[in-house]
Amino acid sequence: MAKQEDLFKKVISHAKEYGFIFQSSEIYDGLSAVYDYAQNGVELKKNIREYWWKAMVHMHENIVGIDSAIFMHPTTWKASGHVDAFSDPLIDNKDSKKRYRADVLVEDYCLKIEKKIEKEITKAQKRFGDAFDKSEFIKTNPRVLGYQEKIDTILKRLGKSLENEDLDDVKLLIEELGIGCPLSGSKNWTDVKQFNLMFGTKLGADAASSTDLYLRPETAQGIFVNFANVQKTGRMKIPFGIAQTGKAFRNEIVARQFIFRMREFEQMEMQYFVKPGTELEWYEKWKTNRLNWHKSLGLGEDKYRFHDHEKLAHYANAAADIEFKFPFGFKELEGIHSRTNFDLKAHEKYSGKKLQFFDHETNSNYIPYVVETSVGLDRLFLAIFSTALQDETLKDGSTRTVLKIPSILAPTKVAVFPLLKKDGLPELAKKVINELKYDFNVTYDEKDAVGRRYRRQDALGTPFCVTVDHQSLEDKTVTIRNRDTMEQERIAITDIAKIVNQEISFKKWISK
Ligand code: GAP
Repeated sequence: MAKQEDLFKKVISHAKEYGFIFQSSEIYDGLSAVYDYAQNGVELKKNIREYWWKAMVHMHENIVGIDSAIFMHPTTWKASGHVDAFSDPLIDNKDSKKRYRADVLVEDYCLKIEKKIEKEITKAQKRFGDAFDKSEFIKTNPRVLGYQEKIDTILKRLGKSLENEDLDDVKLLIEELGIGCPLSGSKNWTDVKQFNLMFGTKLGADAASSTDLYLRPETAQGIFVNFANVQKTGRMKIPFGIAQTGKAFRNEIVARQFIFRMREFEQMEMQYFVKPGTELEWYEKWKTNRLNWHKSLGLGEDKYRFHDHEKLAHYANAAADIEFKFPFGFKELEGIHSRTNFDLKAHEKYSGKKLQFFDHETNSNYIPYVVETSVGLDRLFLAIFSTALQDETLKDGSTRTVLKIPSILAPTKVAVFPLLKKDGLPELAKKVINELKYDFNVTYDEKDAVGRRYRRQDALGTPFCVTVDHQSLEDKTVTIRNRDTMEQERIAITDIAKIVNQEISFKKWISK
């Protein structure tokens, strides 16, 4: 546990020290759960977004993208159900005066039991060595089975109480489990109450005539209200999808764990419009598709798992999360939801406009059903960044910190160094930069010894370092060093682009 906490602290400090993420308005002591992406972070974030966009939009003939406005007509949020039902169950501790999400208190309690399971596994692993069969152990060990049963029973009850809006039972569950305030340990709780997560704002110059607006809490509604426009102008036939990436805002009460849960964050969502009755088939297809997309990044197959929802949102008839093993345990990374025709039907009712598809085969209209894939860009950033950050012990006993970001996503693809700051080496190095910069984000560095420059680029996740030396002046060759293997090779300057292109080819990565 302590090791995981240390790792997470290292992730946060590395993100700041190497220019990936800063606390927002840091000079004013920051704003809670709001972050800024710095010079390297913005490149990584952009590359992740692009990898998603290419896979979702460019690789599917029947999926198009849009970029709708953050401000939307206020009725949108009435129709979508967010005004009435987009809330979290909150509970206050009367002694510490701290406010918590009641469901998170219970989930954290279960996480502690999960840690006990992990401890049993580690102990057994040590005892049995190579003969240890983890999956058999999990299936048969009475202690592990007991812990798992306890987790399942608690989460089932929580899910049921939330679904039935039985907030008294949520409080009872907290009391029965003996959960105390994480800060003070006090068990003196208030009742559980619902709290709406949308941020309100105003449109207009004076208070009397201004309109109340909300900052969108999800990008999906911008897609729904544009369904008919895109379908007609794009001559789209069912099944088809509309994708978009963009900011969303939620007044999260339990905002913590760095960029995992923010108040302003970015989503990458796709709504897939299908014929009623086929939605569960498409739901399964998109679950598989999205899991494969994540796995293509090579962070490790064991890092992902599905979590099927016990408690379904007001709009869904099936829902699952793709969970990722963050430094603080398995948590939701992406949601895949079968949203029925809830949203289009509601917008049709509230707007009075027809939001239907005319099926030429059956000569009839219908409101399409929707399967949604929704992933948080910042959460994905954290998943990639925290997994990539590694401390390695090298053969000679020395250590290095390396950010093994998938090379296709790396902020900078090539760093070019002159071996010395003289003899025309900087001039040739800059010529190399000028050749490469049309195709890749490249950087130049002449400060410190080459070994230290390598280490700095390792810590920034740059997949290739190219060094220009005296031989380069004679035969137009350079050394190219691979971040992961640390191997160096002498190659012609004219071959650099080919080698880099091979490594970061979208086709190569997405086909993995
Ligand atoms: N349109 C469906 C929707 O918004 P969601 O499960 O509430 O579903 C989808 O959100 C994804 O957005 C989550 O899986 C998560 O990755 C991301 N997300 C949600 N709230 C977030 C927050 N406060 N900070 C960062 N990411 C968040």
